[in-house]
Amino acid sequence: MRSPFDPGPGDEAGAVQRIYAQQTPPLLPSSADLAAHEAALALGSTPLNVLMLGVTPAVYRLPWPPHSAIQAVDRSLPMIQHVWPGPVGSAQVGDWTHLPFPAERFDRVISDGGMLFLGPASIDELRTEVARVLRPDGLFVTRVYVWNQSETLDRLIDDVERGALSTANEMRIRSWSALQTSLDVGIPLSTAFDELLVRMGSIENLVERSGLAAEQFVPFLATAGSTLRYTMWPTHDIIAAWTSHGDFEHVSTTIPGHQLGSLCPVLAFRRRGPA
Ligand SMILES: C[S@@+](CC[C@H](N)C(=O)[O-])C[C@H]1O[C@@H](n2cnc3c(N)ncnc32)[C@H](O)[C@@H]1O
Repeated sequence: MRSPFDPGPGDEAGAVQRIYAQQTPPLLPSSADLAAHEAALALGSTPLNVLMLGVTPAVYRLPWPPHSAIQAVDRSLPMIQHVWPGPVGSAQVGDWTHLPFPAERFDRVISDGGMLFLGPASIDELRTEVARVLRPDGLFVTRVYVWNQSETLDRLIDDVERGALSTANEMRIRSWSALQTSLDVGIPLSTAFDELLVRMGSIENLVERSGLAAEQFVPFLATAGSTLRYTMWPTHDIIAAWTSHGDFEHVSTTIPGHQLGSLCPVLAFRRRGPA
């Protein structure tokens, strides 16, 4: 197991299902995050062809206009098998940087948290592919985990010890902000795991001091020894990555209405048509 959200090719005896069931906001979208997606998507009443990057069930269940078609792409077959709620065949195995669809096929492309998996080089590959499969004027909407460069491990540990965390995943995304050193290096998940354990002494102490349910730490435990790196994006850099090539314009930034909303804004970009 490399990460609960990136399990690799094998299911390892149902681990994906078991771990995903313990995921919490903000890594899973809360109702406020979903409301922000809905606002950014500019849903009318015309049926939409939608492409989802990943298999987030709550995004599949957004109030899409009647007769819309929702298609998903995820590189993990176990995630599709255990998490995707749509009909068989509506999610396919594939890499977001080589989308298996013809040009201008979709009205919307949506990703909840997917930019976390992409460093500066692969984000350009993704942008090129999304530009290809979106029709002119179509929207790309994504909830992004922001690199809060004023976060520190000391402040985070203090909040753990005061029992002030909302969820174990709040601890995780704040630790990634505190420990990431550059966009190019990203944040190795094993580093975040090791640093938190060193500071708290043991997982038992971490759980007890946080006051949170032990089950919430199952996804965190699965990252011990992980080879995966995530990338936390400053809002300015992610907007620049999507707009500096001229094929997208930034149309909105929606801050979800919850305590951590500023750490996971929903951004919308419009595919520019031919000049
Ligand atoms: C959409 S993201 C974020 C998780 C999301 N917030 C949720 O609620 O499920 C998670 C998914 O991205 C997939 N993934 C990561 N990088 C990918 C890539 N380059 N191509 C295809 N799928 C990818 C992983 O397999 C995982 O299922």
